[in-house]
Amino acid sequence: MRIVTAAGEMRREAWERRKGGDTVGLVPTMGFFHQGHISLMRAARDECDFVVVSLFVNPTQFGPGEDLEDYPRDLARDIEMATQAGVDCIFHPRAEDMYPEPYLTYVMVEGITDGLCGPARPGHFRGVATVVAKLFNIIPADRAYFGLKDAQQVQVIRRMVRDLDFDVEIVACPTLREDDGLAMSSRNIYLEPDERKAATVLYRSLQLAQRLSGEGERDPQKITEAMRGLIAQEPLVHPEYVEAVDWNTLAPAGELRGQVLFALAARVGNARLIDNVLIELPE
Ligand code: PAJ
Repeated sequence: MRIVTAAGEMRREAWERRKGGDTVGLVPTMGFFHQGHISLMRAARDECDFVVVSLFVNPTQFGPGEDLEDYPRDLARDIEMATQAGVDCIFHPRAEDMYPEPYLTYVMVEGITDGLCGPARPGHFRGVATVVAKLFNIIPADRAYFGLKDAQQVQVIRRMVRDLDFDVEIVACPTLREDDGLAMSSRNIYLEPDERKAATVLYRSLQLAQRLSGEGERDPQKITEAMRGLIAQEPLVHPEYVEAVDWNTLAPAGELRGQVLFALAARVGNARLIDNVLIELPE
């Protein structure tokens, strides 16, 4: 497996493969891999001839006071895991090359960034959309793989691709979980043992939403109230939002029907955790 830091070299190599008739798969990441990342790499490996993983802790998507400096990193372990997953190339650019000073150009996706994580993380999705647009310009990917764990991110990228005419198929992959249901995340490492245990209430609350809507409850408030009630039983878990939204618009759901996303964010110790389930209800 190759590790490339220069954008020009990455572009040349990926274009050569594409011109030779190979399909190119891209998996954007910030590293510190877990099985969720690996599942995206395996999906890309199954479907594409040339698989590039980008590994870049993107400074523009972190707000002031967020964990940019503390974000966990372990390049040697990441290389080992990506090699095992059959990745062809890791693109690992330097921040000063991705954002040459003075850096002035950003991509903003409106509307669907107004809710869920948007208000608590101003500028976050601008940073995500900008870096992903840059990656799409550097790497001519036929397909790019994203995890539904970050459901709002998936919709932001899909909208950007549609609105800015990027020629890439966005593949959304299911959330991988620990045995007790906690969604895998590089940030789970911030949790103390008692916090780690308490954090399982997040997925349990999403399962409750699945059960209640499956039993025919159509009032989103009733379900999110029940979820909040369950989460309140864990005093170490401080919910930021617990919401039911329409999957396509990410606007708060009126009556529950069609594709509904139950999504939440919570602070647990030093970690801000997010999770969600996407459910399909009769129209
Ligand atoms: P990062 O948090 O490293 O995640 C990289 C990819 O892995 C994302 O598409 C994310 O949704 C996916 N992922 C994370 N946890 C997962 C899980 N438990 N199951 C399945 N997939 C999971 O998301 C980012 O990086 C950045 O915002 C990025 C898109 C790279 C832009 O900087």
